[in-house]
Amino acid sequence: MSFLFKLLFLCFWLYWLNQGSFFVTSQRRGWSGNVISGTVVINGTASIGKTDDNFICATLDWWPPEKCDYGTCSWGRASLLNLDLANPILLNALKAFSPLKIRMGGTLQDNVIYETKGDKNHCAPFTKSSSEMFGFSKGCFPMSRWDELNIFFKKAGAMVVFGLNALSGRTIGPDGSAIGAWNSSNAESLIRYTVNKGYTIYGWELGNELCGSGVGVRVSADQYASDLNSLQNIVQNIYRGFEVKPLVIAPGGFFDANWFAEFVKETPKSLQVVTQHIYNLGAGNDNQLINKILDPSYLDGGNQPFRDLQAILKNSGTSAVAWVGEAGGAYNSGQNLVSNSFVYSLWYLDQLGMASSYDTKTYCRQTLIGGNYGLLDTATFVPHPDYYSALLWHRLMGSKVLSTSFSGTRNLRAYAHCSKQSQGIALLLINLSANTTFQVRVSTESPASNGGLRLQQEDQTPRINFATMPGNSKRNGNTREEYHLTAKDGNLHSQIVLLNGKVLGLNSSGGIPSMDPVKRSMLDPISVAPFSVVFSHIPSIQIPACK
Ligand SMILES: *[C@@H]1O[C@H](CO)[C@@H](O)[C@H](O)[C@H]1NC(C)=O
Ligand SMILES: *[C@@H]1O[C@H](CO)[C@@H](O)[C@H](O)[C@H]1NC(C)=O
Ligand SMILES: *[C@@H]1O[C@H](CO)[C@@H](O)[C@H](O)[C@H]1NC(C)=O
Ligand SMILES: *[C@@H]1O[C@H](CO)[C@@H](O)[C@H](O)[C@H]1NC(C)=O
Ligand SMILES: *[C@@H]1O[C@H](CO)[C@@H](O)[C@H](O)[C@H]1NC(C)=O
Repeated sequence: MSFLFKLLFLCFWLYWLNQGSFFVTSQRRGWSGNVISGTVVINGTASIGKTDDNFICATLDWWPPEKCDYGTCSWGRASLLNLDLANPILLNALKAFSPLKIRMGGTLQDNVIYETKGDKNHCAPFTKSSSEMFGFSKGCFPMSRWDELNIFFKKAGAMVVFGLNALSGRTIGPDGSAIGAWNSSNAESLIRYTVNKGYTIYGWELGNELCGSGVGVRVSADQYASDLNSLQNIVQNIYRGFEVKPLVIAPGGFFDANWFAEFVKETPKSLQVVTQHIYNLGAGNDNQLINKILDPSYLDGGNQPFRDLQAILKNSGTSAVAWVGEAGGAYNSGQNLVSNSFVYSLWYLDQLGMASSYDTKTYCRQTLIGGNYGLLDTATFVPHPDYYSALLWHRLMGSKVLSTSFSGTRNLRAYAHCSKQSQGIALLLINLSANTTFQVRVSTESPASNGGLRLQQEDQTPRINFATMPGNSKRNGNTREEYHLTAKDGNLHSQIVLLNGKVLGLNSSGGIPSMDPVKRSMLDPISVAPFSVVFSHIPSIQIPACK
């Protein structure tokens, strides 16, 4: 009885604190209910990174239907060679981004031969062959299919990055090292064909997972740098007279500090984008995937390749920028009902936040469709939760990245950018906790305040520290917009996500639904339910970094 009374009292007291203009300390615990009040602190002085305007990117792969992992075959007809480009959901899903970056590539890209004019051989697809590298024979890419893809991407408003075969002309030593220089002739003929047809390509990428110790085959940094120079020369030559030329991108593989440092050092003029791949959750058959995703220290560990690559680029003086060229989280096609369910958004959005805070310009999700980690369902094309997460990021998070921290618990992940569309900031909050609701307030540090916290709102009064403190609620700018994403029925494995409590699903004509926010008073803290994601656009927080 007395315990209940105390609890009741505490609740009233907390309520009163929240309503009053008082400094709420970062954390209140030690009682059995679980409401953690905390403050997201944003350094408003200057941004710490700048992403591309179109940070969100998704991949399309070459894997044929016969590609299987751990006894299941998850690719269906999602290959670049056989994907149904006439599917209306696919078109709607891309158009909703206008533009979505698409990176075409993957393991078999270094097995692809581009059909050329006067080819005497029949242009035959990959066939399963356990004796060959990557488990499949070489496959031919018909130019009629390349035409279809380009026509589709133009209609969908996509920005296209194409991964070229970087093993042409090399032989593979018994230890997996590639011997010899890249033979560019087949790639050159593809690029010429593409230009002659008038197709716009945003970037040409050389090779897939051949850097560092490679995945099956490796190419030394020195040789790769020389091959990349060849590609840059070919691009400069073929696109001579073009005002905007495609980016030259490499190496599209796992981060390896020595290899990347040497490669970047040797390509000061030829490399524009350095791409790394991220599979930090482990194998697709790992039964600990969810536990890793919900473990803040595990997620934190994922920042290392972003941080290390940023340092290499800074120290080398290159003008090349960093992208994540492919990230599927769990390798060998991900895991069904994890990589394509609500829980993956907790990992994916955290990665987007973390990558951008280390100045990564673009982040390509493996995959748009195909495997168990598609943004769209392989069989039905219906968007998975991560599709909507990506779209909300794309619409709300601007290119300028703000230094953001949350005091209190590491179970709440906080990221902030300047707002994409209008004034103010956009905030991303991810609650990894099963049983604590956080009450979040936002504060910004201004340059004039000697490191203290200061209110950045128009109705600012001295010594009140939170941007969310009471003011005249009728005044403009005293509301913010919130987008709460939760799993249907609280089931982390659900492939259905709720936005502000309502199911997000295609409308009756296969259209992407509008995703409308709820408005909340700036007087109230942002409440982030267990296992949920909240995006918030806060127009009234105006800081120098976003001017
Ligand atoms: C905020 O950012 C500015 C500019 O980067 C920096 O000089 C300042 O030290 C930062 N403030 C804090 C408290 O970290
Ligand atoms: C590169 O490949 C083409 C086409 O297969 C071949 O004709 C050419 O001789 C090769 N070049 C070199 C330098 O090996
Ligand atoms: C919260 O959940 C964790 C695991 O999900 C559990 O270990 C802990 O005891 C729970 N705490 C409370 C107060 O229920
Ligand atoms: C996060 O979820 C927990 C789990 O129940 C909840 O108690 C907590 O308040 C949530 N955090 C926020 C910031 O709302
Ligand atoms: C479905 O959504 C699309 C795109 O948002 C929209 O253009 C279309 O009018 C909607 N159709 C129906 C029946 O609501």
